Amino acid sequence: MPTLTVNRQEIEVADGATVLDAAKACGLEIPTLCHHRGVPSAGACRICVVEATSRGRTRLIASCAYPAEEGLVVQTESERIKRSRKMTLELLLARCPESERIQEMARELGVDTPRFKTENRNQKCIMCGLCVRVCNQVIGVGAVCFSGRGQTREVVTPYKELSDVCIGCGACAVVCPTGCIDPAEFRDKLLERIPNEFNCGFDSRRSIYVPFPQAVPNKPVIDRENCIHFRTGGCGACAQICPAGAIDYEAEDEFTEEKVGAIVVTTGYQLYNPAAYEEYGYGRYPDVVTSLEFERMVSASGPTGGNVYRPSTFEYDDDGKIVGGEKPMVCVFVKCVGSREEVKHKPYCSNICCMYTAKHTMLYEHKVHDGQAFVFYMDVRAPGKNYEQFVRRVAKEKTATYIRGRVAKIFPRNGKMVVWGADTLSGNQVEIDADLVVLAAAVVPSSGAVDLAQKLRIGYDEHEFFNEAHPKLRPVETNTAGIFLAGACQAPRDIPETVAQASGAAAKALGLVVRDEYEREPIVACVDENTCNACFNCEPVCAYGAIGEKEIRDRKGNLVKIVAEVNPGLCQGCGACAVTCRSNSIEVEGFTDAELYAEIDALVP
Ligand code: FES
Repeated sequence: MPTLTVNRQEIEVADGATVLDAAKACGLEIPTLCHHRGVPSAGACRICVVEATSRGRTRLIASCAYPAEEGLVVQTESERIKRSRKMTLELLLARCPESERIQEMARELGVDTPRFKTENRNQKCIMCGLCVRVCNQVIGVGAVCFSGRGQTREVVTPYKELSDVCIGCGACAVVCPTGCIDPAEFRDKLLERIPNEFNCGFDSRRSIYVPFPQAVPNKPVIDRENCIHFRTGGCGACAQICPAGAIDYEAEDEFTEEKVGAIVVTTGYQLYNPAAYEEYGYGRYPDVVTSLEFERMVSASGPTGGNVYRPSTFEYDDDGKIVGGEKPMVCVFVKCVGSREEVKHKPYCSNICCMYTAKHTMLYEHKVHDGQAFVFYMDVRAPGKNYEQFVRRVAKEKTATYIRGRVAKIFPRNGKMVVWGADTLSGNQVEIDADLVVLAAAVVPSSGAVDLAQKLRIGYDEHEFFNEAHPKLRPVETNTAGIFLAGACQAPRDIPETVAQASGAAAKALGLVVRDEYEREPIVACVDENTCNACFNCEPVCAYGAIGEKEIRDRKGNLVKIVAEVNPGLCQGCGACAVTCRSNSIEVEGFTDAELYAEIDALVP
C-alpha cells in the first residue's frame, strides 16, 4: 500500500488508488468533469489537474487517472493549478457555451466570458469519452464510438446507424457530465422500465433493489433477468461501488435444511383479479384500479409520495418516478368485487373490504379536500370494536356518499370514467362521471398455497384456504401436530384478528418447544412387525406423514427385513392406514380387532 503526501498530509492508500482517491481520503475536494467512479479514468478534460513532485520533478497531472505512487508529493491548490483549470474551462466554455455544468464550474473559477472563439459553438459534448468508455469497458457492449477528427470529431454509433448492438441501458446518458447524450440516438428501443412490483407497477425500479421499505433483511437483491451483468457479462458497477464488497454475482439460491419443533404457516393472501369482471374494464382503463393500488398511492412511501393522481395522467421523471398528475375530483369505490358472488366468482365475504374502503374514503378526503367520494355497497359488515362507529362517521360526517347497490358497467367517456349502477334503496339508476374508480376485490389465498399445504400435509378447503383442526376449540392448530396457522392463509382476516391469531399460534408453538416431555394422543396406529410385508400401501393414505420405514436386524446387525413404522408423535389415530393394510398388520391402539370383537360379544351375548 503506497504512502504519499497530499498538501503536506501523509496518507496511505490502497493499491491501485489514484491521486484523486488519495485527495478524497484526506478530505480534499478536487473538481472533476470526465471522471465517474464506476468507469476507468482517461484524464480527458484535465479539470482535475494537481501538481505532483516525484524524483525531484514537478508536473501538472490529471489526478483522476494518475496512480498514487509511493513517495509522491501532491499539491492541489497552487496558483499554477488555478491558472490551468481556468484555461481549461475557458476552452470548454468556448466550445460548449450552453452546457449548464460547465457554466457553473466556470463561474466558480471566475470565468464569465471565454477569451477564445470556436467555429463549432453551441455544442454540449466536451468529447471526454466517458460515454464511450462506459459502453465499451463497463457495459461491455461497444455501441458508442468516436468518429472524425478535430472540429468534426463526434460521438456516434458505428457507421452512424441505429445499432442493434446497443441494449438501450442508458448508461452513457447516466455518466455524461454535460447531459448531452440521448440514448434514443443510438437505438430505437430503449431498455424497458422494470415495473416496481411492490408499488403495483405504477413506478419503476432498478435491477438491484430493496424489495420494499422495512424488508427483512433490509438488503438489496439483484434481478438476474434484467441485470446487465447477467445479460452481457459487463457492467458490474454495483460490485465496484459497494464499499463493503457485498456484491457476489456467483451466489446461487441455496436449499437449507433445518430441524424445527413447530411451524407457523402465514402465507397471507392476494387479491382476486378484477379483470374477471369485463364490464368494469380493469386492466383496460388505467383509471380503474384495485384497492391495493389505491393503498400504495395514498401511502407516504408509495409511488406518488402519498398524493392521489389519476393513473392515466401520471407524469414521470427520467428515473421512472412519478412526479405529478391530475387529482381525481370524483372517486367511486366499488365493494364486493368478486366476493359474495356464488355463480361466477367467490361465494364468501372477504371480511376486510368494508373497513378498508371506509378508510380509503377518509384518506381520499384528506388528500383531495374538495373531492367527492361515492361508495357502492351490498351490505356494510363492521363487527369489530368501534368498526360500526367508524363507518357511520365516514358516511355521515364526511363527504362519502354510500349507495346501496351493484355497479353494472364502467366505461370511458369524454376523459371521465362513467359508472352505471343501481340504488336499490330508492330504486333509481345511478350514473356518475368519475375520475378514478377503486375496486375492492375479493381476498383469495396466495398462489402456491395448495402446494405448501400438500408439502406440510395440512388440509385446505374448496377455496384453498387452510383448515384449522377445530373452528371453535383449536382455531390456530392444524390436524398435523406441530403446525399452526396465522392470518389470511386460513380465511380473510383483518390486522387485529391476524395479530391475535398470530400471538395464539406463537404461544402454542412456544408451548411445544419449551417442554422437556411431551404428551401424545394414546390412540395411535401400530404395526405388527411380524406380519408386515413392507408393501407401504399405508404410506400414501396417511394424511399426516406418520408412516416411515424401520429396518429389522439380527443380533449380528445383518438386515433381516424392512417394515412400516408409525411415528406416534405425528399419528392422529384416524385409522386410514389400518383399513388400507392388506396383511392386516396395522391396528389402532384401543381399537384392535380383538377389542372390537370383545365389545360386540359383550353387547350381543
Ligand atoms: Fe480528471 Fe477530467 S476529471 S481529467
